[in-house]
Amino acid sequence: MAAEAIADLRNVDRRAGKSGIARWAECVPVDPCDPAAVIALAEGRAIDLVVIGPEAPLVAGVGDALRNARFAVFGPNAAAAQLEGSKGFTKDLCAANAIPTAGYVRVETVAAAHDALKGFGIPVVIKADGLAAGKGVTVAMSREEAEAAIDAAGDGPMVIEEFLSGEEASLFALVDGVTAVPLASAQDHKRVGEGDTGPNTGGMGAYCPAPVLTAELQQRAMDEIVIPTAKAMADAGTPFSGVLYAGLMLTADGPKLIEYNARFGDPECEAIMPLIEGDFAELLLAVATGRLGEAHPKLSANHSMTIIVAAQAIPVRPRRVA
Ligand code: AMP
Ligand code: GLY
Repeated sequence: MAAEAIADLRNVDRRAGKSGIARWAECVPVDPCDPAAVIALAEGRAIDLVVIGPEAPLVAGVGDALRNARFAVFGPNAAAAQLEGSKGFTKDLCAANAIPTAGYVRVETVAAAHDALKGFGIPVVIKADGLAAGKGVTVAMSREEAEAAIDAAGDGPMVIEEFLSGEEASLFALVDGVTAVPLASAQDHKRVGEGDTGPNTGGMGAYCPAPVLTAELQQRAMDEIVIPTAKAMADAGTPFSGVLYAGLMLTADGPKLIEYNARFGDPECEAIMPLIEGDFAELLLAVATGRLGEAHPKLSANHSMTIIVAAQAIPVRPRRVA
C-alpha cells in the first residue's frame, strides 16, 4: 500500500519535496495500481482531474479504468504506456517509423542474448525489458561485463543495443493524443558516485533547462522523434495522452532516442516544476481533455536544480521474478 496525495493542485506548493507532501495535501493510503480502489476514492471525493504520477499504475491500466468511469486523467492508457513499459515495443515503433535510435536486437533467453552479443562492439548496452524505474540498464564497458549483465538478467525479454556516444538530455513534451508541444528540457546525473563514476541510478540530481539541447536541437527532436511517435500511437488507435519524456543522446548525427518515459522524471520533475508559469492544473486539464492546442505552456527564464541525498547501498539491482 502506498500513500497517494489527493489535493487541489492549485494549493500545492510545487517546491515541496516528497516527504513534505502531507503538509500541503491529504495523503490517503490506497493501492495506486488497483483501478477499483482508485475509482472508489475519486468518486467519493468528486475529483475533477486525476494525475497519475508513476509508471506502475499507468501500465496497470488505472488510466483506462478512470477514463471509462468518465474521469479526466492526465497520463496515458496502458497501451500507450508501453512506450515506457516495454523497451522492445518502443524500439520496434522507432524502426517502423524511421525514428532515430540505437541499433538493437530483441531476445527472450540468456542463450539468445549471448549469441546476439557477438554482433555488437564494445561498449554495448543490455536492457532488461520491463519496468525498472530507470535501473534495469547496464552500459557494459567490456565483453565480460556484458555477459555478466545478461546472466544476471536471466531468461526473459531483453534488448541489446549499440552504444551511442554524446551528451544526454531529456525533453519533456505534453501530448494530448493529437497535439504534442515541448514543455521543458532537463539533464539528470545518473551515476551514483562523485565525478560521474559507479553504476547508473534513477538519477542523483537534475537541472532544468539543459542548455546542450539548443532550440534547434529541440525542434529536431520534436520533428524527428516526439511528433512521429505521437502520430504513430494515434494511428494505431492507442493515442498517448500525458507527458512524454524523451531521453535523448545528442550524437554527431543529431538527437537519437534512448528511451521514453510516460511520466515526469524523478528527480527531473523537481527541477522543472518551479519554472512552470501559469496555472499548472489548467495545463494538465487541457492535456487530459484534448485541448492542448489552446494551451501555451511557458517556462520562466530561470534555472533550477535538485540534488538527491541517498542511502549508500543504491542502486539496488531489481530482481527479475521468474
Ligand atoms: P534507459 O533506462 O534506457 O534510459 O537507460 C539508462 C541510461 O543508460 C541512459 O540514460 C544512458 O545513460 C544509458 N544508455 C541507455 N542506452 C544507451 C545507449 N544505446 N548508448 C549509450 N548509453 C545508453
Ligand atoms: N530520472 C530518470 C527517470 O525518472 O526515469
